Amino acid sequence: MAITEDQRPSRATGDGGPGFVHVRGAREHNLKNVDVDIPRDALVAFTGISGSGKSSLAFGTLYAEAQRRYLESVSPYARRLFDQMSVPDVDTIHGLPPAVALQQQRGSPSTRSSVGSVTTLSNLLRILYSREGFVEVELLFLPTVYAPCPVCHGSRYNAKTLEVHYRGKSVADVLGMTVAAAREFFRDEPRVCRALDVLQEVGVGYLRLGQPATELSGGEAQRIKLATELQRIQRGDALYILDEPTTGLHAADVERLMAQLHGLVDAGNTMVVVEHEMRIVAGGDWVIDIGPGAGEEGGRVVAAGTPTEVARAKGSRTAPYLARFLSVTA
Ligand SMILES: Nc1ncnc2c1ncn2[C@@H]1O[C@H](COP(=O)(O)OP(=O)(O)OP(=O)(O)O)[C@@H](O)[C@H]1O
Ligand SMILES: [Mg+2]
Repeated sequence: MAITEDQRPSRATGDGGPGFVHVRGAREHNLKNVDVDIPRDALVAFTGISGSGKSSLAFGTLYAEAQRRYLESVSPYARRLFDQMSVPDVDTIHGLPPAVALQQQRGSPSTRSSVGSVTTLSNLLRILYSREGFVEVELLFLPTVYAPCPVCHGSRYNAKTLEVHYRGKSVADVLGMTVAAAREFFRDEPRVCRALDVLQEVGVGYLRLGQPATELSGGEAQRIKLATELQRIQRGDALYILDEPTTGLHAADVERLMAQLHGLVDAGNTMVVVEHEMRIVAGGDWVIDIGPGAGEEGGRVVAAGTPTEVARAKGSRTAPYLARFLSVTA
């Protein structure tokens, strides 16, 4: 989406009008009473040096408040826990969609999950294998952190489970396949293909289906989570928050991820991406640069606008990088 002049937030009135999330007086962690308008239905990059306050605004403020409101609206039980939930230090936030925030990178994955199980794949495979006539097929997707089992020799399944074959392959065989190899193997199963395609689209075609979640890099875990969301989301009005989803991605895969992010925007969602990768920043709709420094030297919005505008901003440490990328004069 392109943001036109008349859609811009008006600084004169402090009223961004509809189509924006209006944050007023954000003071979480190092944030210096930040007022900022974030366009909705857009891909918005939060930039700035380490410690400048990006996560404090994205997760500590936006996500925390959206999550709090969401829980309040859906569950009386959650409402009882409400007093214990942390309330972000902010005066007001208007126009906030419910958050579907993806985990921050440093989140700890469950020790019981794997590439296959965090997506809908495990369910699909379970259906596929039980269709072969065996009702009690167990797909555990347990990580290989324990001693190899004497029956399955470390492939984690009992003998009966391993007897079930789909086109000559057992569940253990399938979990030993990479996403790309499994895509080829299951080419006649449209629903499985769809799940595997999405994993390939976020650039993790090289991972084994059975690879434990505990053995994924932060960026891989984040992108698999994104793939899972992509399978679910058709049309939404949600706020997604991602912390450096490009970490570890190959250049070609950055483009694919970019296409996925824009796809979620086209579906009506708002994407906030904390990102250093200039291809994502330059290819987005809006940039909010936080800083100028770290800690007490940061916590302010140094520049906000389209990528081209921020590339020209004085006093922004991101501007020269963005300008070089956009090949415009700063
Ligand atoms: N829970 C916390 N309590 C107090 N201060 C915090 C807390 N979390 C972060 N800070 C401080 O707030 C400042 C901004 O941190 P924040 O995590 O928002 O930075 P960031 O821009 O996301 O950095 P990075 O790129 O390294 O993730 C830092 O100086 C940090 O030390
Ligand atoms: Mg951060």
